[in-house]
Amino acid sequence: MEWFTFQSSTESSNNKHHNELYAEKLPVKQLAEQYGTPLFVYSRRALETNFQAYHQAMADWPHLICYAVKANSNLAVLNVLARQGAGFDIVSVGELERVIAAGGDTGKVVFSGVAKQRHEIRRALEVGVHCFNIESEQELERIQEEALSMNKVARISLRVNPDVDAQTHPYISTGLKDNKFGIDIDRAPDVYARAAELSHIEIVGVDCHIGSQLTTTEPFIDALDRLLMLMDKLKTKGITLKHLDIGGGLGIQYQDETIPSPSDYLVTVKEHLVQRGYGDLTLMVEPGRSIAAQAGIMLTRVELIKPAAEKKFAIVDAAMNDLLRPSIYSAWHTIVNTVERPDIESHQYDVVGPVCESGDFLGKDRPLTVLEGDLLAVYSAGAYGFVMSSNYNSRNRAAEIMVDGDQAYVVRQRETIEEQFASERLLPEA
Ligand code: LLP
Repeated sequence: MEWFTFQSSTESSNNKHHNELYAEKLPVKQLAEQYGTPLFVYSRRALETNFQAYHQAMADWPHLICYAVKANSNLAVLNVLARQGAGFDIVSVGELERVIAAGGDTGKVVFSGVAKQRHEIRRALEVGVHCFNIESEQELERIQEEALSMNKVARISLRVNPDVDAQTHPYISTGLKDNKFGIDIDRAPDVYARAAELSHIEIVGVDCHIGSQLTTTEPFIDALDRLLMLMDKLKTKGITLKHLDIGGGLGIQYQDETIPSPSDYLVTVKEHLVQRGYGDLTLMVEPGRSIAAQAGIMLTRVELIKPAAEKKFAIVDAAMNDLLRPSIYSAWHTIVNTVERPDIESHQYDVVGPVCESGDFLGKDRPLTVLEGDLLAVYSAGAYGFVMSSNYNSRNRAAEIMVDGDQAYVVRQRETIEEQFASERLLPEA
């Protein structure tokens, strides 16, 4: 969390020194006062540095980094990455329109997802995406039909399911035979053979995505080996591919996990490609979390401290509708007080929101030195944070800020009550 650091500052009223949290060069307290809470704060430098970690690791190899838009689809985030030369992995026409609106290059877009609708396929063909990652035989036929009707050629890759265990949370594990994703790797040669017969389909690659928040490289390498075996088989049938896309999935440190860097991971991938005679294959990746997660925090104000019989609760103004991960995956996010308080006692708190569900918590049993009115920061909230937020309990969605050095930009305004209802209608009278 290099871009969110504690720095010494002086409170003008009593001239006391204390440490407080900064986002790049701005004290987060100032952002919360100016823009309110809950507030997502992103660091431009962090996004760029995380993207560059991939770029540097692949600089000696033909490559394309397709940032997974679902992780954080704010237009400013996409724009910052587009300016770095990023491609994009999308799963809906909504994400495609965001990439276009953010100035992304549609020629660097891969279109994933298990059920692309016909109108989505048509729009993707119209703007010329790099390729469709095909997840079923039925979808292949559907894309052929649409391409034929538009007299366009659809570039395709098959998303194969390599049947490897990503050893992650079951909800975000996608590469096992019983998952809904991808085409069984044993069926893939036949599906490629069928694709080769279709008039408006051009085969360009193969891809997989075995899961998210992976903490070791072994499952990636197992999957890669299986993809390369498939490519060997395809070669004997006269089918050669231009690219191999190993998906996203590299984890981040939420708590005390040790995570390989993009470079550790990609060096091993490249070695395997060379050993297996695929030194000229374009390598593609679809990272989401490892680019965006540590580039964001969520700020939330402590409304009340409630000392219940068994434990203390810090009730904050952010809730499961703002950051859903703790509730649905029991995910652990570091929570800190943004001002250090050496003079008060630390207690264990459950940090909870005001939503009417016992599952509405941001963290449990956290040691905090905190008073009512304090500003807390929830770390690692740049990925799968705002994008998974909702209006549950009729709560307005939070604002998003991007910090760039000593400048802060509102990249999404806080929703208003009027905006929340704007598209709802009453029934006619009587
Ligand atoms: N490519 C495909 C086809 C994907 O389905 C995903 C994520 C990615 C790339 C990016 O994976 P990443 O590098 O971010 O791990 N909401 C969950 C994560 C769901 C991931 C879904 N697919 C969470 O909050 O942990």
